Amino acid sequence: MCGIIAYIGNKQALPILVKGLRRLEYRGYDSAGVAIAQDGKINRVRSVGRIDNLDEKLKDHTVEGTVGIAHTRWATHGGVTEENAHPHFGCDGKLVLVHNGIIENYRELKTNLGDTHEFKTQTDTEILAHLIEFHYEQQKIHNETPDVRLAVEHALAHVRGTYGLVVMHADHPDLLVAARLGSPLVVGIGEGEHYIASDATPMLAYTKKVIFLEDGEVAEISRDNMETYNLKDEAIEKHVEEIEWNETQAQKQGFDHFMLKEIFDQPTVFEDAIRGRYNLLEGTANLGGLNMSDDEMRSVNRVILIACGTASYAAMVGKYAFERLAGIPTEVDVASEFRYRDPIVDEHTLVFGVSQSGETADTLAALREAKRKGAFVRGIVNVVGSTIARETDGGTYIHAGPELAVASTKAYTNMVAIMVLYALQFGRLKRVSPATGQRLLKALREIPAKMHEILEQKDLIKEMALKYKDYKDFLFLGRGINFPVALEGSHKLKEISYIHSEAYPAGEMKHGVNALLASDFPVLAIMTKDQLYDKMRSNVEEIKARKAPILLIATKGDEGAKELTDDVLYVPDTMELLEPLLNTIPLQLFAYYIAVELGRDVDRPRNLAKSVTVE
Ligand code: F6R
Repeated sequence: MCGIIAYIGNKQALPILVKGLRRLEYRGYDSAGVAIAQDGKINRVRSVGRIDNLDEKLKDHTVEGTVGIAHTRWATHGGVTEENAHPHFGCDGKLVLVHNGIIENYRELKTNLGDTHEFKTQTDTEILAHLIEFHYEQQKIHNETPDVRLAVEHALAHVRGTYGLVVMHADHPDLLVAARLGSPLVVGIGEGEHYIASDATPMLAYTKKVIFLEDGEVAEISRDNMETYNLKDEAIEKHVEEIEWNETQAQKQGFDHFMLKEIFDQPTVFEDAIRGRYNLLEGTANLGGLNMSDDEMRSVNRVILIACGTASYAAMVGKYAFERLAGIPTEVDVASEFRYRDPIVDEHTLVFGVSQSGETADTLAALREAKRKGAFVRGIVNVVGSTIARETDGGTYIHAGPELAVASTKAYTNMVAIMVLYALQFGRLKRVSPATGQRLLKALREIPAKMHEILEQKDLIKEMALKYKDYKDFLFLGRGINFPVALEGSHKLKEISYIHSEAYPAGEMKHGVNALLASDFPVLAIMTKDQLYDKMRSNVEEIKARKAPILLIATKGDEGAKELTDDVLYVPDTMELLEPLLNTIPLQLFAYYIAVELGRDVDRPRNLAKSVTVE
């Protein structure tokens, strides 16, 4: 996720763009840049770090003009460097663009353009500038009147992936072209001026009148006019809407908290995590950054997943995936334990550090220890360019976008997605058949729609939360792959509602915890239709007999669940290995609504920090 702001009007663009970038910093903040057109030239200034750094740098430049584009980056492809910061040029320094999204086939497109175009960055975005420039030049070669919008449309016809983009051309200073597929863009309408941005936040100070671009639309925007087309170049009628949100509401896209927004981001960012990372035909994953040969991969006889907190619960799901698909014995180690335990690893051990921030001190120290002892050390990380990403010898970014709420939600699901893909990649080198791989990939692709189905039940989940909010203790139960889900559900509830809760594998109940069961001790049990369903059901029957209130997560269609309790939240069916990707979501929402009801500071719970950089 990155932030885009563009302006065309009669005021100086620079102050509007810089102010707009500050409003958008929540979408990404590792580097930023502006480009402004004037007198047939484009002036571009970029800087690594937050907008303050860019602002400081701009003091040494005169950047004047009334049309410009700007971007604050959250890196996905290519490290955090000034060279990789947007806006990006084509070859002749006249066409420049900003982009939010992922271009899946950027390598293929680069190859197709051949060596007539020189690339200067490691980003997936730069290809767009060159491709649009190429189509623009073709128009000239064929003696057509050069048309930026048509060049954009022709270029986008070859692109696979997602984009929200704004293009500016030095020879067309009265024009900006915007296009959207999968990454949002809003156009704000002022008097003789237009604003274009990733969301309405940066334009609210100037106008409340906006037009939302839809997927597959391309807009040609001048000071006084906006025309919208589809990718077949047919004109489209757009409606102007009046925005009622204030700035903070707009940043949260109308959600009350970042946590809720991030829970609802999950279907979209899940697609970002898996996009372009599998080959359906061969039934395998192709996560590129592992930096291991097939022989090295085959030589791995043990996997250790190192993480803390929510990331460690994601890793526990990863353990199931590695053992089931790849047949490699896998352990999950909480980083703070691993680093002091004198761990046994060797050159056949593959150690993954799993971390949203990529800065967690314990995880980092544990990885250093594993590296010292000769293991393959790789990262599964969200923040590009973070210390773990830099210090490991490869790995994969989970593409969840900035996670601002302290409680991790969308990073968890994307971590699970990546570990499943890695497990499949290893599995296909050993024992998994193409057909099994294909079945899994097809099921993975259905996950976003199923996540939506769960999110649509938010009102029912809220109702349950209201019913249960006054209990002082909770027990979360799961078995098999749903035990880590129970742990994560319990963890979410604790950290944002401050209610005491525990999670147990349901088979352990009779070894002690049964003693706690009573009418004031509610049990949230995950009883979806996996291989342990019957056993889980018996456990729930026992709890019912002991009069504890029961809330069930069950598979859609399991009417029998209603015989055990009135309180059932249904989730869609999926392959067992993928159940945590769905079953966790009602638990995130349950914790969220209880915390809100109890008046907690949901996005910033007491005593917790987003990035734990100290031991
Ligand atoms: C829980 C939570 C923490 C983190 C943990 C690891 O919602 O946010 O438990 O999961 O501190 O952080 P990362 O993933 O940044 O290493």
